[in-house]
Amino acid sequence: MKKISASFLNSKNIPLDLTKLNDTDVDFIHVDIMDGKFVKNKTMPFSEMKNIYKYTNKRLIVHLIVENPSKYIPLYAELNTECIVFHVESSEDIIKNLELIKSFSIKCGLAINPDTKINELIPYLPYLDEILVMSVYPGEGGQEFIKESENRIKELKELIRSYNLNILIDVDGGVNDKVLDKVVEADILTSGCYIINSNDFQEKITSLR
Ligand code: DX5
Ligand code: ZN
Repeated sequence: MKKISASFLNSKNIPLDLTKLNDTDVDFIHVDIMDGKFVKNKTMPFSEMKNIYKYTNKRLIVHLIVENPSKYIPLYAELNTECIVFHVESSEDIIKNLELIKSFSIKCGLAINPDTKINELIPYLPYLDEILVMSVYPGEGGQEFIKESENRIKELKELIRSYNLNILIDVDGGVNDKVLDKVVEADILTSGCYIINSNDFQEKITSLR
């Protein structure tokens, strides 16, 4: 059964939606952090974001959509964080940042944009607990799932298998019940608008498993 991670990026009332998600069996809360550099958009500063601990009792998967992950890793490691993920396209030394995450005894992952070759992940595979395959260009929620992601997920699954590693595949962007046949190999599905814009969170979560 797949694990489900809920993104609240497009929530109009974060405290309310996180409280409602506490009453579901959702596995993780997906926290999108944008710096206004790696992508145009910018999310709220850590001083505000850290308050989500008041509303959610779920473990967090932190998705750093930023140029300089090392600025953010120590901050988000302090929360109830299961895993910190940053982009293979980010500017800093990737292995150093993966080790920085691990130094906090937190799982680490890399995210990969739709136009980056899957093979670019190869040097980092031995370090990774998860890979976040972007099925939209990061920056905003509510976009349409890019169909080619299906083949990329298959290619990645095959790559992980060929190295005999145990790395979870998380798929992020435009995930809803209509794309389930394209994400068969995923272990975790991250979904934002499909869950948050509905009036029955649990029903939507169940429909994705
Ligand atoms: C896109 C974010 C996603 C997004 C998912 O930049 O990384 O996590 O919020 O939301 P939906 O499911 O609405 O595409
Ligand atoms: Zn995300």
